[in-house]
Amino acid sequence: MREQLEKLKTDALEAITSACGIEALQDVRVKLLGRKGELTSLMKGLGALSAADRPVVGQLVNSVRDEIEAALRSALVTVREQAKLERLQSERIDVTLPGRFASCGSRHPVSLIIEEVCEIFAGLGFSVAEGPEIEHDWYNFEALNFPPEHPARDMQDTFFVDNDLLLRTHTSPVQIRTMLKQKPPLRIIAPGTVYRCDSDATHSPMFHQIEGLMVDTAVTFGDLKGILTVFTNQLFGQKTGVRLRPSFFPFTEPSAEVDIACVICGGKGCRVCKNSGWLEILGAGMVDPEVYRHVNYETENISGFAFGMGIERIAMLKYGINDMRLLFENDVRFLRQF
Ligand code: PHE
Repeated sequence: MREQLEKLKTDALEAITSACGIEALQDVRVKLLGRKGELTSLMKGLGALSAADRPVVGQLVNSVRDEIEAALRSALVTVREQAKLERLQSERIDVTLPGRFASCGSRHPVSLIIEEVCEIFAGLGFSVAEGPEIEHDWYNFEALNFPPEHPARDMQDTFFVDNDLLLRTHTSPVQIRTMLKQKPPLRIIAPGTVYRCDSDATHSPMFHQIEGLMVDTAVTFGDLKGILTVFTNQLFGQKTGVRLRPSFFPFTEPSAEVDIACVICGGKGCRVCKNSGWLEILGAGMVDPEVYRHVNYETENISGFAFGMGIERIAMLKYGINDMRLLFENDVRFLRQF
């Protein structure tokens, strides 16, 4: 029996050392110390021994059991340590890795110009108005004194939705919508998207304009020129030369086209200004009395001016962009520069 116990002990200790993992150790414990385990059955055999041998062997059994239990306990501790270490290794975070940059957007140059222009005119007492991009023929043409067969309708290559509806070709219909809602005195500017069937390096079928309208009791052409001079000086820098050339629009009389001294060459003449030294940036004029008639204004005591400018063209001049299509391609390498 003593030999049996010794063998059991050596086998047990070996099984414990070679067991890998918590489950394997659990199995070893059951196999040895469980109710039907090897040591347990040996202990059951104690009864068959003589009264003299029983305490001696009993003691031996106890010490073998204690040793096995101790070995199991320490093996369990080692295995748990090992498992924890492995988990820590596999879940390790390398804090020295560079982080991901949170990419930050930038404003689109068209938005920047709209914002800047609106701000300048806010300082001159103008408030912002808006109108729909899908517009009735009446607001876009008729009320602005373009009669049905007027050749000026061809000047603006219109996208029609149906007989009556169209994509507005300019922001001037906002003049009409504003005057129908409000009586003078009024000062508004109206930024927005407009559409014309035209597309090349300097024309896009969709682009932006800002309309201006001021109506009061004694507004003169001098006021128009004064306001536009203040505006161009603020937008392009002090002492930017401004000139007005006679022009024609059905809804203004007299009408003018407004040029600024070329921002590229300073007026000496270059490719951008086609050697003229001047760049056209907007159309303007005194509101035609025919327009007042369409919005039921008393024409006796009022006068006013209106102007309209293309935002893309101003953005191109101000930021030195040489192709309008860059503004709509949304290439982030281009947009990031603003
Ligand atoms: N609506 C005109 C255009 O698109 C510009 C303009 C606006 C001219 C107001 C005069 C007055 O060409």
